[in-house]
Amino acid sequence: MASGGDPLVLGIETSCDETGVALVRGDELLFDAVASSMDEHARYGGIIPEVASRAHLEAMVPTIRRAMSEADVDLSQVDAIAVTAGPGLVGPLTIGASAAKALAIGLNRPLYGVNHVIGHAAVNQLVDGPFPGRTMALVVSGGHSTLMLVDDVAMSVTELGSTLDDAAGEAFDKVGRLLGLPYPGGPHVDRLARAGDPEAIRFPRGLTAAKDQAKHAYDFSFSGLKTAVARWIEACVDSGREIPTADVAASFAVAVADVLTAKTIAACRAHEVDTLVIGGGFSANSQLRELAAQRCAEAGIDLRIPPIRYCTDNGAMIAALGSAVVRAGVAPSDLDIGVDSSMPMSTITV
Ligand code: KG4
Ligand code: ZN
Repeated sequence: MASGGDPLVLGIETSCDETGVALVRGDELLFDAVASSMDEHARYGGIIPEVASRAHLEAMVPTIRRAMSEADVDLSQVDAIAVTAGPGLVGPLTIGASAAKALAIGLNRPLYGVNHVIGHAAVNQLVDGPFPGRTMALVVSGGHSTLMLVDDVAMSVTELGSTLDDAAGEAFDKVGRLLGLPYPGGPHVDRLARAGDPEAIRFPRGLTAAKDQAKHAYDFSFSGLKTAVARWIEACVDSGREIPTADVAASFAVAVADVLTAKTIAACRAHEVDTLVIGGGFSANSQLRELAAQRCAEAGIDLRIPPIRYCTDNGAMIAALGSAVVRAGVAPSDLDIGVDSSMPMSTITV
């Protein structure tokens, strides 16, 4: 938790459509301000990077001001600035990095360009306290499905696997479209699934065959599943039957949750890890939460899923990782850093 001697870290997140600014001291969140441009993207049925970049540009200074005033601190009290340097959309990332550099120069404080996906794991420490040692992290959202072994969130993270095609949330959004639900479809499919029978249709579990064990034991693939759902719906339409949408949603949702949890628990066992952190916007998913809770309890794994406002993209995750990095004594970033849309998980800071 916070100690008076811990540095005050300002975190800025702009990798997608959320402009997030937060202040963290130690493992304590002072304030988290988020402005979203999702309403604008909903009109297009997807995120338009150019639209998101402009929205970040307009929201940045008001969001910084709001975070400072709600936390009741002055910019002069900030000890370090952390910003998402990747992965994410290049235009949006560039707006955040530019703002962070301007602050670092203006305030004469160190800058830390950090990894967004690792931030999704680090934010858990603001809620449940420091990781008890080696920890497994599953980060699932519309943009990522990544399984990581976290030895030290500031210094040593190893990617065990990730999706080879669609992210879990993305697959839900696509199936939402197939079922005629509004964008983003994820939460709608979740809701519909709760009214259906998860055993009604046996959809495929990607990369779970014996032949995939050697190379892809901890990787995910959801595009085959999405195609199977599309084919199933087509066959239903062709034969003139009414689509049992709730059963389709439930059978699809359980296929995603089954693969995510089975592979994650297998990784925990293989690496002898007994703490699992789940983060990212998709961790709101009920089917994932239910199956993860059940399987972790059976396996004796301590499951940490923070409240959903910490799971979606926000400044708190970046300030949390920045705080860990500063306290670990990691060297600051140069002021000429760029952004990296496909930053690897081995890169915690740039
Ligand atoms: O982390 P996030 O807010 O944004 C990024 O993608 O980075 O994640 C949003 C994604 C969207 O694809 C959304 O449809 C999905 O997570 N999602 C859900 C649920 N809530 C959000 N998918 C399934 N069930 C949910 N309850
Ligand atoms: Zn994210």
